[in-house]
Amino acid sequence: MTRFVGQLTLGLLLTPLLLTTPGSAQVRRPATTTTSTFTPRFEAIAETRFLMEGLTNANYRSVHRLLKDRPTDNETWAFIRGQAILIAESGNLLLLRPPRNDGRDTWMKLGMDLRDKATALAKAAGNRDFARCRTALEAVTLSCNRCHQTFRVPVRVGPEADPNERDAE
Ligand code: HEC
Repeated sequence: MTRFVGQLTLGLLLTPLLLTTPGSAQVRRPATTTTSTFTPRFEAIAETRFLMEGLTNANYRSVHRLLKDRPTDNETWAFIRGQAILIAESGNLLLLRPPRNDGRDTWMKLGMDLRDKATALAKAAGNRDFARCRTALEAVTLSCNRCHQTFRVPVRVGPEADPNERDAE
């Protein structure tokens, strides 16, 4: 399952890179603009566990592995950046899934923290700054584990945890 979703994740990552030509991603204004009262409804579809497994953790593990040694080619740097961005985006998705009972605000803050820390990692990878990537990755790891501890999830991520887990490659 993780392997399948990992490939899916990779597909999602690569598709925009392959298809994007300069300017094509710009959102155009519709021909007629009216003042709208329509409010979109956001709805969480995947279980949090599935999101963690398929998106957050798959990309986290891959980034972890790729940053063991200083990457030597542009492709690897771009790959790390892309995977960090997907971790950051999963922080946004967490915001759609606060616990029903207590702890909503804490959850939101922890989700935003993951988003911020993973964005900083993506930025460091974009700059090919290995030292900063390593520090930023540590901050991401702390952010993951802080939420797990706060919400009593018995999962600790990091270099030595779950040696048998598969990642997104
Ligand atoms: C805002 C809170 C939050 C953050 C931040 C967070 N997690 Fe989680 N994570 C959860 C919760 C809640 C579960 C338990 C979901 C369940 O079992 O229903 C979970 C479960 C997991 C699991 C176990 C999935 C399974 O198959 O049971 C893994 C692995 C995981 N998280 C990895 C990560 C990693 C890696 C990060 C950081 C890159 C991260 N998480 C950040 C809340 C969070």
